[in-house]
Amino acid sequence: MKVTVKVPATSANLGPGFDCLGIALPLYNEITVEETVMPGSGVEINIIDINDAYDVISIPKDENNLAYKAIELLYNFIGQTASDIKITIKTNIPVARGLGSSASVIVGGLVAANELLGKPADNAVLLSIAAEVEGHPDNVTPALFGGFCLSSFEDDGSVAYSKIEWPKNWKLTVLIPDYELDTKIARSVLPESISIQDAAFNIRKCSMIIDAVYRADSELMKKSMKDKLHQPYREKLINGFKELNELLQNKDDILGCVVSGAGPTILVISENDGFEKAESQIKQVFEDLNVKCDIRTYEIENEGTLVI
Ligand code: HSE
Repeated sequence: MKVTVKVPATSANLGPGFDCLGIALPLYNEITVEETVMPGSGVEINIIDINDAYDVISIPKDENNLAYKAIELLYNFIGQTASDIKITIKTNIPVARGLGSSASVIVGGLVAANELLGKPADNAVLLSIAAEVEGHPDNVTPALFGGFCLSSFEDDGSVAYSKIEWPKNWKLTVLIPDYELDTKIARSVLPESISIQDAAFNIRKCSMIIDAVYRADSELMKKSMKDKLHQPYREKLINGFKELNELLQNKDDILGCVVSGAGPTILVISENDGFEKAESQIKQVFEDLNVKCDIRTYEIENEGTLVI
């Protein structure tokens, strides 16, 4: 028996919501989990890059694979040992670009294995295992449930989360550069502690984002998508981020320009034809920096992980 699931890409943080906010995008990885034919043959992991565009060679194909680690924890949860399974990952989500490719693999492995086992774990268990393997819940939550999600890793290991309806006319454009950025590196540049002023700044902005989304208030959203926790420190790793923020900060119908997850992808939120009007100038910023960039505009993905 085998189970295949499709899991959406995600963009985490949305500016001030570091390790807390995330949104799903309609771009999918497919993960298949099956029992191997030969008992005792151990774990087998195949990775297929359907675009032949990303560096999938660096993704582990042994027990260090994130999907396998998550599945192992699921088996532990039911008092069994994971063995003799085959995992096939068809990647369509760009790797190491800040679009939740690792979260999708973790969530996909878990949901598929859970189906294969007859659904012993509920969503709360799957989410807490996924967040444990990923280290933070902001990508795995929208990857599992779709939509715009708030999530909080609680002291007992559970994840508290909430999904808020995203305004239908707010578009999500991702500017995906042709280079990778390892999340570990992007987290290593963050300071151990920040000032109370910067913390208070982010609390204000993050609270405002929730209300802006809830009430589809574009003017409030424009004021909310600011951050002092992570973006100022990561700016030096992300070509064009500073220039794009300067370019877009006062443009009509552009609601925000933020680092997607840990980068290097940049997320621009817009309405009406705000993005289209700025597009040639945006492209020029990347051209001037000699960075190739894939620009894609999406609507929100609201379904999350599905068995197919
Ligand atoms: N919140 C995480 C970060 C997302 O910014 O490091 C990356 O996985």
